Amino acid sequence: MIPDVDNDSIVYLNGEFLRLGDAKISVLDRGFIFGDGIYDVVPVYGGKPFRMDGHLARLERSLAAIDIKVDFKRADWEALVAEVLRRSGLGDCMVYIQVTRGVAKRDHGFPRNVKPTVFCMVSPFTRPGAQARETGLSAVSMPDTRWLRCEIKSVSLLGNVLAKQHAIDAGVDEVLQFRDGYLTEGSSCNIWVAKDGTLLAPPRSNMILEGIRYGLLEELAEAKGIPFNARPISRQEVDEADEIMLTSATKEVLPITTYNGKPVGAGKPGAVYAALRAGYDQAIAAL
Ligand code: PDD
Repeated sequence: MIPDVDNDSIVYLNGEFLRLGDAKISVLDRGFIFGDGIYDVVPVYGGKPFRMDGHLARLERSLAAIDIKVDFKRADWEALVAEVLRRSGLGDCMVYIQVTRGVAKRDHGFPRNVKPTVFCMVSPFTRPGAQARETGLSAVSMPDTRWLRCEIKSVSLLGNVLAKQHAIDAGVDEVLQFRDGYLTEGSSCNIWVAKDGTLLAPPRSNMILEGIRYGLLEELAEAKGIPFNARPISRQEVDEADEIMLTSATKEVLPITTYNGKPVGAGKPGAVYAALRAGYDQAIAAL
């Protein structure tokens, strides 16, 4: 029995649908041995995947980036997601897809003729509540000590795990990571800054994972007439921001109103956040 999960929920593993509690992989799976794999997380509202094309395109990019060839075309991923959702019967949930290089004798180089491990599960999801949306979250800064291929949605997440634990140990919700004095991202979210009505984000690069909400917020900013600028953001600019926000599949878009123990701007969610939040809610309602 795995605590805190529905052991009876049905997951997909290498061609079979199994109870989560019964799904097993080999100790020689390269995901377990080397963290040699990738994943993606698709949010689902009322049984309908949100921005699935973007998520599946990123999954394919991650696979290509680490040269894993798997026998799934776009339509196969779509059918798999539809089937796990159907079997789950859940409305609001997260679909987690993971692919590793497969099972082989432990050797760093890629093994030959190995079939990748394909895993997919569905977990219930509760949308961020009024407290987070209206009061906002807290965050502290920390150095970004991760590797330099953060654009790949790799299951090698030790850097992100340590970053999140840093937040927990500091008694806050999130971290803002900085590399060479410039903002990168949170432990598992993208970070946004608003100054004088302009929305800013670190540019797309190998330093951050480009969230599916990155493109979405760009679209929402455009639709709401909010100027957007993707450029390096210094530590000082974050200190002096009017607003700070984060985005991720599970957090949607949320304000950060306390940063390094001080209020951000007026210390409450600002106008740029309110406009983007409204747009986000409208996009979900339009599903
Ligand atoms: N994390 N940056 C990092 C490092 C992330 O792990 C995530 C998402 C994001 C935001 O991406 P998106 O908007 O596509 O969710 C940015 C997921 C939710 C996770 O690891 O569970």
